[in-house]
Amino acid sequence: MKKILTALLALMALVMALSLSACGGGSGDLTVEKGKLHMSTNAEFPPYEMVKGDGGFEGIDVEVAGLIAEKLGLELVVDDMGFTAALEAVQNGRSDIAMAGITVNEDRLANMDFTDSYATGVQVVIIKADSPAVQSIDDLASAALIGTQEGTTGYIYCSYPPEEGGYGEDHVVAYETGAVAVQALLAGQVDCVVIDNQPAQEYVKANPGLEILDTEFAVEDYAIAVKKGNTQLLEQVNKALGELIADGSVQKVVDKYITAG
Ligand code: ARG
Repeated sequence: MKKILTALLALMALVMALSLSACGGGSGDLTVEKGKLHMSTNAEFPPYEMVKGDGGFEGIDVEVAGLIAEKLGLELVVDDMGFTAALEAVQNGRSDIAMAGITVNEDRLANMDFTDSYATGVQVVIIKADSPAVQSIDDLASAALIGTQEGTTGYIYCSYPPEEGGYGEDHVVAYETGAVAVQALLAGQVDCVVIDNQPAQEYVKANPGLEILDTEFAVEDYAIAVKKGNTQLLEQVNKALGELIADGSVQKVVDKYITAG
């Protein structure tokens, strides 16, 4: 009798272990909240992420994240915050992915893991068309003040000391958002704004009197960030992203938000 009981218990343990390992590895167990994919972002970056009229979110990153979530059987939740906070959220395990037109660079690679790239970003310079201070990229060296968004690569490059290719921190102002930096440019508080090309296009469209210099300041890769060491989630997100790139879904989303010309 005792033997049968022991055998039965062992069998039960085996069944439990097997069913546990069958659930393990599902995306649902890898995320901050069961069944959800939390994306931290800074929805102040058109056309990648922005707040809709009804308070919801839209943009290339939001839609691509939605497609990834769908593939993983998860529901996308967009957590909107400051840009630096969005990067920190994924590092601290408060979000599953950070997606915010994030440029992959060495510093960030040391603190988080990244998927393959899904887009190219180009840092450009916005000026007032009649700007006396800046008319070409060479004038940046003599610009009194350069506007940027806090925590972004635009800020990072510009604030390097001149001997490292920047203009020095004293010449760079970090604003909470790109839109606020552009308002500062319009108000004459800075001489130019260094920001990613796509939002730059949107700001120039929306504000007469602004222009983008045709020199590319830096060319970068955008990718999705995942908490360092969360290899399983990284692999699943990367696989889903790869499929969406391969079948043209990502391009379709890009075309919806970026009209050529
Ligand atoms: N590509 C730049 C960076 O990674 C700017 C990204 C800003 N994104 C945003 N959603 N505000 O630093």
